[in-house]
Amino acid sequence: MHQFETKNAYFDQLSRNPRLRWLGQNTNHLPLPDEVKQAMVDSIDDDAIRLYAPPLGIEALRHLILADLGLHDLSAMVTDGAIEGLYHACRTLVGPGDEFITTDPGWKWPVQFAADSGARVVEIPIYDAAQDFKLTPQQLADAITKKTRLVYLVDPNNPLGICYSRDEINAFATICRDAGAYLIHDCTYRHFAYEHTLAAEFFPERTITTYSFSKWLGLAGLRVGAVIASGEVLERLAAAPPNNLGSNVLSQRAAIAGLKVKAQWFPEVLQIQRHNQALIAAAAKAINGLATPVFPSNGNFMIIDVSKAEISPEALVEALQRQDIMIRQGSYHSDRFGGRFVKVSTTVPTDWVEAFCHHLPGAVEVAQGLNDVGPQF
Ligand SMILES: Cc1ncc(COP(=O)(O)O)c(C=O)c1O
Repeated sequence: MHQFETKNAYFDQLSRNPRLRWLGQNTNHLPLPDEVKQAMVDSIDDDAIRLYAPPLGIEALRHLILADLGLHDLSAMVTDGAIEGLYHACRTLVGPGDEFITTDPGWKWPVQFAADSGARVVEIPIYDAAQDFKLTPQQLADAITKKTRLVYLVDPNNPLGICYSRDEINAFATICRDAGAYLIHDCTYRHFAYEHTLAAEFFPERTITTYSFSKWLGLAGLRVGAVIASGEVLERLAAAPPNNLGSNVLSQRAAIAGLKVKAQWFPEVLQIQRHNQALIAAAAKAINGLATPVFPSNGNFMIIDVSKAEISPEALVEALQRQDIMIRQGSYHSDRFGGRFVKVSTTVPTDWVEAFCHHLPGAVEVAQGLNDVGPQF
């Protein structure tokens, strides 16, 4: 079987298991606001879905996204999830001879997009307690060259859960400006951070900020997000985007409703996921060889380092899947460091986390005897 078939069958099988507890993809499984559900029903009842949306998104949504970020002087382009914007920016802005810089670990798809565009990819290692699992301004300054066209910064970082300070963001922005590079600030997990600074505040002319509704609002399957940038940059991106016929109307109406109730609805989500993180940290601490090096995490997920437990992340993933619990192997994020950790998502009902904590000791034992596991993605 071709790899793409194996991969699709893997996810299809997981999604057909009604008992599966999804702690692997940073999706949000806490109940949706009624207003969001109603907005979707309304968009069917009033025939809005029979139309194409405006190419850059429903105006009300574009404004609400900018207001949510506080970036009133920039422009938003609604995309089919943040990933479409990332794809488009990477394919448009970099080409053969250019360099693309990001961190390792980080999120692998933009790396792939830039490589497919012909860029030379530089992944700066950050899996190191000595530097708090963060990219340092010095590392970026050392790596950047006149050929660097794009710096891709995931902040809060998926999978690590670290988040950069205002000074660090300012330093990254200055380094990018001095080198003449664009900065993609992937803010998919911004809403879960204790404090978050937007690079666009310091470097509005060439920062591309990404926005997602998949995580904080939990609309992953609806595919709606945005890129935010200056008028000049968006003029270029808006010229020929992959989906020039406008994003899904139902999804956009759900996103509008979500932003309108965010102030009332989201604080409880945040409180539950932080409580879930504490339960996971305590469960991991009780097991020899496991550690949670970034706790608390600024994302809706956290890593568990298994490198001293004499198990492979894949074996632990497999052992937990046998208990109808999905977590993610580190190799999804990093070839270099992926053998050291698993990632567990926390915007889930607390009883799912309790089940995870309950099964974790047994799963570690099972994983110790598992040498050969099937492919994981
Ligand atoms: C860092 C990062 N960026 C972007 C995305 C994709 O977001 P969306 O679902 O809005 O396409 C993800 C999804 O996991 C992510 O982890």
